[in-house]
Amino acid sequence: MNKNIAVLPGDGIGPEIIEQAVKVLDAVAKKYNHTFTYNYALVGGCAIDECGDPYPEQTHSICCNADAVLFGSIGDPKYDNNPTAKVRPEQGLLKMRKSLGLYANLRPIEPFDALLDKSPLKEERIKGANLVIVRELTGGLYFGEPRGRSENGEVAFDTCVYSKKEIERIARKAFELAIIRKGHVTLVDKANVLATSRLWRETVTDLYNREYKDKICKATGETIKLDYMFVDNAAMQLVTAPTFFDVVLTENLFGDILSDQASVITGSIGLLPSASIGDKVALYEPIHGSFPQAKGKNIANPIATILSAAMLLETSFGLTEEANAIRKACIKAVENKKYTPDLANPGQSCLTTQQVGDYIAGIV
Ligand code: IPM
Ligand code: MN
Repeated sequence: MNKNIAVLPGDGIGPEIIEQAVKVLDAVAKKYNHTFTYNYALVGGCAIDECGDPYPEQTHSICCNADAVLFGSIGDPKYDNNPTAKVRPEQGLLKMRKSLGLYANLRPIEPFDALLDKSPLKEERIKGANLVIVRELTGGLYFGEPRGRSENGEVAFDTCVYSKKEIERIARKAFELAIIRKGHVTLVDKANVLATSRLWRETVTDLYNREYKDKICKATGETIKLDYMFVDNAAMQLVTAPTFFDVVLTENLFGDILSDQASVITGSIGLLPSASIGDKVALYEPIHGSFPQAKGKNIANPIATILSAAMLLETSFGLTEEANAIRKACIKAVENKKYTPDLANPGQSCLTTQQVGDYIAGIV
C-alpha cells in the first residue's frame, strides 16, 4: 500500500515523540511491504516563530493532500503567562481542527494489565475498565461567538453554542462505536443548568429512538443502551467506578477535562492516543500536551504517539493487522519494563524516549 502521511511534530516534546512514531511506522512499512511517504509541516509556536501564523496555509494544504495526519503537540510556556499575546500556539490547533472539519475526537482509555499498579487508583476499581471518550471537537465554548473582552477590559465572555446538526453527527459516531464495543453510550452533560446540554439530551435521545434503540451490539447480543450523567457526577464516577463506562459521549470542554482525568486510570497520560475524525482527512495525536519541562531531554513517553500511529493505520488505512502488531509491541515493551521515567518507580532504571522507540520498532 502506498500512502502519504502529513507529519506535524509541533512544539515541546512533539518532535521527539513523533520521531519514535515515524520509526515504528517505517518498521511496519518494511515488514508488511508498504510505502509511507511523510510530508512534514509546521504548527503551533514553532509556526508562529517561523511565519507568524500557528497554522499556516502551507500546512493546511499539506494536510488536505495527505491520506492521514500525524500530529505531536502544541504549546509553549512563553505564551502561557502572557494573556496579551495576539497569536497563541493553541489557535493553530483550533484552526486546524476547524479547517479540516475534525468534529469527532475519539479518546480510548484502555489500561495495560502490566501497569495496573501504576495508577493512583485502587487496582480492584480499575481492573477491566475499558472506555472511549467521544468528544465533540469543533463546537461549544471553544468556538462560540461572541467571545472576548468588554471595551473597558473589566469583563470577558465566551459563548457556548451547539446546533442539532452538530450534536447528531457526533452522536452517530458514539452509537456506531457502541455497536462494535460493549453496547453502552453514556451522554455526559449539565442539562440541569445549561440550555445547550438540554439540546444535547433531546437530540441524542431522538436519534437513539429513531435509529439505534433496536440495534444489536455484536459483543453482548443485546440492544444498544443509552443513559445520561451530569458532568460533575461523571467526574466522580470515572475515578470511583470506571468499569461502568463504555462509550462516553460529550461536548468539547467536558471531553477535554474528563479525558485528562480518565488518563489516571492507565497510570500515565503518556500512554493515551486519540483520533480526530471528520469528513475529510483524519488526524491522530497523543492526548497529552507539549510537556515543555521535558523538551529535548529524551525522557518523554512516546507510547501515546506510537499508539496514535496504530489508530491511524487501522482507521484511515484499514490496516488492522499492522495496527495490532504495534499495540502488541507496546504491551510487550511495558511488560518488559522498557519504559520512560513516568512509569518507573523511584530508583528503578528506565529507558530514554529514543530507546523505547527503538525497542518497539525492533519487535513490531
Ligand atoms: C487537548 C488539548 C487542547 C484542547 C489544547 C492544547 C488547545 O488540551 O487536545 O486536549 O483543549 O483541546
Ligand atoms: Mn486537553
